[in-house]
Amino acid sequence: MRQIEVRQIAIRKIAMKKTLLIVLALAVFACVVGAQSQPPAKNPEYKIPPEAAQKANPTKPSPESMAKAKKMYGMDCAMCHGKEGDGKGDMASDMKGITDFTNPDSMKNRTDGELFYIIRHGKGEMPPEDERAKEEDVWNLVNYIRAFAKK
Ligand code: HEC
Repeated sequence: MRQIEVRQIAIRKIAMKKTLLIVLALAVFACVVGAQSQPPAKNPEYKIPPEAAQKANPTKPSPESMAKAKKMYGMDCAMCHGKEGDGKGDMASDMKGITDFTNPDSMKNRTDGELFYIIRHGKGEMPPEDERAKEEDVWNLVNYIRAFAKK
């Protein structure tokens, strides 16, 4: 009697293991099929509304504007883009495609309006400035980062 019970328990254990394996296999299968049936996760293209891109920069890079921007840049941007704008900030090492402002090619195809939009709304791994910054402050920043390439 005892022996039969032990045997039954052993059989049940094996059966449970089998069930577990089947469930696991099904789960893996479901993942593979699921991953294939979904459209490939490509980065949606970064779109800037044309009216934002065409916005004219109302701010002149005056000494006051640049001084204000320098302060903001030091607090909000330098940790990634680097104090000198070279894209080598403290946080840059684990980020992909960080923009080097000292390279004149990096933003030559960008309008001031586009830079404004990117600073305000963020891009890729870059967080948005949003309403933390006033319009004027963002324009100051546009002028400030443009100046890196002219040095
Ligand atoms: C957390 C890191 C981080 C911070 C902080 C940050 N950026 Fe960026 N920035 C990035 C990365 C990464 C990219 C590249 C994004 C991409 O193209 O996917 C980028 C791109 C840009 C671009 C776009 C250039 C282009 O033509 O595409 C501008 C302009 C810019 N940053 C300005 C700023 C300004 C100004 C600040 C401060 C207000 C700032 N960033 C703060 C990480 C950062």
